[in-house]
Amino acid sequence: MKLLIIGASGILGSKLYNDAINKKWNVMGTYCSHKHEGLFYLDVRDKSSLEKAFNIFEPEVVVMAGGITDVDLCTLKPKLAEDVNIKGTSDLVKKIKEYGSKLVYISTDYIFDGENGPYKENYKTNPINNYGRTKLEAENIIRTKLKDYLIVRTCQLYGVADRMLTNSAPAKNFAIKIIHNMQNNKKVYAADDLYSTPTYSGSLSDILIKLIDKKSKGVYHGAGAEFLSRYDYVSKITDVFKLDKSLIQRVKLKDLKLKAKRPEKGGLKTDKIRKEKICESYDCETGLALLKKELSNA
Ligand SMILES: NC(=O)c1ccc[n+]([C@@H]2O[C@H](COP(=O)([O-])OP(=O)(O)OC[C@H]3O[C@@H](n4cnc5c(N)ncnc54)[C@H](OP(=O)(O)O)[C@@H]3O)[C@@H](O)[C@H]2O)c1
Repeated sequence: MKLLIIGASGILGSKLYNDAINKKWNVMGTYCSHKHEGLFYLDVRDKSSLEKAFNIFEPEVVVMAGGITDVDLCTLKPKLAEDVNIKGTSDLVKKIKEYGSKLVYISTDYIFDGENGPYKENYKTNPINNYGRTKLEAENIIRTKLKDYLIVRTCQLYGVADRMLTNSAPAKNFAIKIIHNMQNNKKVYAADDLYSTPTYSGSLSDILIKLIDKKSKGVYHGAGAEFLSRYDYVSKITDVFKLDKSLIQRVKLKDLKLKAKRPEKGGLKTDKIRKEKICESYDCETGLALLKKELSNA
C-alpha cells in the first residue's frame, strides 16, 4: 500500500503515519509549517509542492488530514480558511483524478448545527461557523468530482503529535492544554452546555486503517463512544491523569466568549462502523489511559 498522508505533523496525521509504518505500508507523510524529520514539505496552496509529492510517490491512497483546524482562526481569517480548506482540497482533488489515487478526507461534526447531536452520517448538514462551512464545501467538492472517495468525520480529537514530544511546536490540542495547565496549578474553564463525542487519535487511526484495508467508500463517522459535556470530559481527564479537580471552573459556553460559534450538541454516532464490524469506539477512560501511556513512554 502506497499511502500519502497530508498533515502528518498534526495530531491525527502523526499517529496514522506511525501506525501505517508499523503495518509495513509504504508511507510518505507531509508537514506544512512545522518541519519534522522524515516528513516532506507540502502546502496545498503551493501547487508545485502538491505536484512534486504526487510525481515522486504516485500514491494509491491519500489521506487528507491537513488544513486549518483552529475553529476561531477560521472566523478571524476567512480567506486563509477558504484558500486552504476549500481551494486546497479542490486542487488536491484534481491531482487525485490525474494520478488515479483514492482520497480519504477527514471531516468534522462541525458541518452540523449542534441542535440535536450526536449525529448519524445521513443527517442534514447546516454549519454555523466558517470552519464547518469550509469543511462542508470541501466534502461537497469531493462528492461531486470523485467516485472512489472516503469521507471520515471525527470530533474533538485528543492525542499527541510527534512534534509536540520534541517541543518543536506548542501543544494546540484541548486535552493536552488542559493537562499542562492543571499540572502547573492553573484554573481551567469547562462549559457544561457544550457536548461532543471526544475521540482518541489512536482509535481514529485504527478506524482509518481498517476502512482503507476494506476498500470502503462513502461517508463514515469515526468518533469516541461517549457523548459528554466539556465539563464531564475535563472531569474524566482529571480522573485519569490524577489532577486536582478543584481547578476546574464550571462555566457556560457563552462565558468563554469564543470568536466562532460552536454547535452546542455536536458529536457523532458510530453505529455504521460498528454494524459493518469495522471497529468498536473507545470510551473516554480507555482513550485517555492510552494517551497517558503514550505521554509517559515519550
Ligand atoms: N482536532 C479536532 O478536534 C478535530 C475535530 C474534528 C475534525 N478534525 C479534522 O481532523 C483532521 C486532523 O486534525 P488534527 O487535529 O490532527 O490537525 P492538526 O493537529 O491541527 O494538524 C493539522 C495538519 O495540517 C497541516 N497543514 C496546515 N496547513 C496546511 C496546508 N496549507 N497544506 C497542507 N497541510 C497543512 C499541518 O501542518 P504543520 O503543522 O506542519 O503546519 C498539520 O500537519 C483535520 O482535517 C480536522 O479538520 C479535527
